[in-house]
Amino acid sequence: MCGIVGFVGQREAAPILLDGLSRLEYRGYDSAGVAVVSPQKGIDVRKAKGRLQVLSDMLHGGADMQGRIGIGHTRWATHGAPNDVNSHPHLSEGGKFAVIHNGIIENYVEIKEFLINQGVHFRSETDTEVVAQLLEFYYNECHDFFDAVGRVLRRIEGAYALGMLCADCPDRIIAARKDAPLLIGYGEGENFIASDVTALLPYTREVTYMEDGEVAVLTTDGVAVYDALQQRIAKERCHIDWEVSSAEKGGYPHFMLKEIFEQPEALRRAISPRLKGGKVVFEDMKLTAEQIRAFSRVYIVACGSSYHVGMLGKYTLEHLTRRSVEVCLASEFRYSDPIVDDHTLVIVISQSGETLDTMAALREAKARGAYILSIVNVVGSSIARESDDVLYTWAGPEIAVATTKAYSTQLAVLDMIGLAFGEALGTVDGAEYAQVVSELEKLPEKMETVLAHHEDIQKFASEHFNHNSIFFIGRNLDYALGLEGSLKLKEISYIHSEAYASGELKHGTISLIEEGTLVVALGTYDKLFDKAMSNVVEVKARGADVLALTTESHRAEMEKTVSNVLTVPDTAAMLLPSLGVVPLQLFAYYVALQRGCDIDKPRNLAKSVTVE
Ligand code: M6R
Repeated sequence: MCGIVGFVGQREAAPILLDGLSRLEYRGYDSAGVAVVSPQKGIDVRKAKGRLQVLSDMLHGGADMQGRIGIGHTRWATHGAPNDVNSHPHLSEGGKFAVIHNGIIENYVEIKEFLINQGVHFRSETDTEVVAQLLEFYYNECHDFFDAVGRVLRRIEGAYALGMLCADCPDRIIAARKDAPLLIGYGEGENFIASDVTALLPYTREVTYMEDGEVAVLTTDGVAVYDALQQRIAKERCHIDWEVSSAEKGGYPHFMLKEIFEQPEALRRAISPRLKGGKVVFEDMKLTAEQIRAFSRVYIVACGSSYHVGMLGKYTLEHLTRRSVEVCLASEFRYSDPIVDDHTLVIVISQSGETLDTMAALREAKARGAYILSIVNVVGSSIARESDDVLYTWAGPEIAVATTKAYSTQLAVLDMIGLAFGEALGTVDGAEYAQVVSELEKLPEKMETVLAHHEDIQKFASEHFNHNSIFFIGRNLDYALGLEGSLKLKEISYIHSEAYASGELKHGTISLIEEGTLVVALGTYDKLFDKAMSNVVEVKARGADVLALTTESHRAEMEKTVSNVLTVPDTAAMLLPSLGVVPLQLFAYYVALQRGCDIDKPRNLAKSVTVE
């Protein structure tokens, strides 16, 4: 949440900052701002409520600001309404310091009171302004930018990625991190900070991820990184091989649609290297078969769509390993006094690798002795770095707030974990193992055939985009799939929607079904098809308009009862949700399109949720 970027070099900073922010806007889009510093004019701050384009137009793409060092911010509001005053960068009262921040300063009220008592005047309602004001307060005592930063960091509590400028030191940016993502990019005679590597792709691929407690001083000539004790430390650099084009729309009207269509390719990258000679082989996993056998408890912990992947994973892992698996929302897990010891495996799932709730759950589990195996998309992200083992999904950058290709690749990786664990435990049936591996190989191709029918879904969406409420029903795997279909729809189209286990309808929810209610009935799971049909009949009898999703082999039967039927190719039962999710993603997309929603940047949301 909130995107931050900083630049120091020989070029004009403002256009580079605006360009970097345009690649970070998915992190927050309530307001945007930039600050540049020059020896002659001091710090110049410009900011505007609303989308980045408003600021960019105001500054003529950055041409209106002069200075070769600067910081920029795109905001997801936490403290204080989204308006010009609360936008970052925040200036200290005397105009000596400008600060951008991602995270929350938890003790800001106490610091603010202290500073007000010292005669400092605040302009905004934000927690961040205390950092700028406190910097100036300490600087007036010590007259040293680095020292003042150290004093501030010792005083503030909470989470932060900070970028700071000082008018008296117009050659440097100081950056600091604790519990919020921040990385340094190394260029030729220029250096950068950013919340996310996508901001830097056009400028450099050489980056270092900052760790908690670290402070970095960036100048044109180089970057010095210090630990929490202010000792200079050497940092390892990583090379990022994502293409610039992978973070651009490439002719699609929205990132979400592009990312939906990228799924077969993303699946190939996630699956192919891990299938060898008919076996799942995780060369990138450290866990041994002996360790797998020693676990007495398994949790899957995640948020949002990643949690939905976990729900599907529970069904498949329990089926393949005959061990019980508990799936927990990360935000609940950490406060639930979880039963975790050193015989516990915690599988953590996160696209961004930066979700604060998930990160906190990971740390809680680790502190209690658990082994952490994470499934992550963003290489080098915090969750990846703090896990004992990490399996990357290789989905490429996902920009749309609504996740699609990350979900699909997480699911494929979790399915493969199920097979590998089942083999290690000797609990998976050989014929089933072989069938699933063979179907995993065909999965990308089968997904392409589903995508080829996107126009059928578009047509249906154009006839049904005006509902106030939509229900998704299904059993077992189809229920977990329905949760994802429902989240996708409400997230981007703002239609109220619920997903129910079909068997639960008669225990209360069926009272909501009336003439014309749209019910998306999921009946892909062969074993429970007859049960699914019974529930379809029940809701139709009460006047529901039904859109059914089933497999090719059940199409004819479903069409006897339902006129709107979508199908996916037949495959192994545990892989059906991987195909079934695609029509649901497309349905949500086309409904949101018809309703004129801002699909890639839905209201109130951000891609990477780094606040609790
Ligand atoms: O980056 P993560 O996978 O940890 O994110 C978790 C959720 O915030 C995320 O899946 C969210 O629910 C998506 N926007 C849903 O499309």
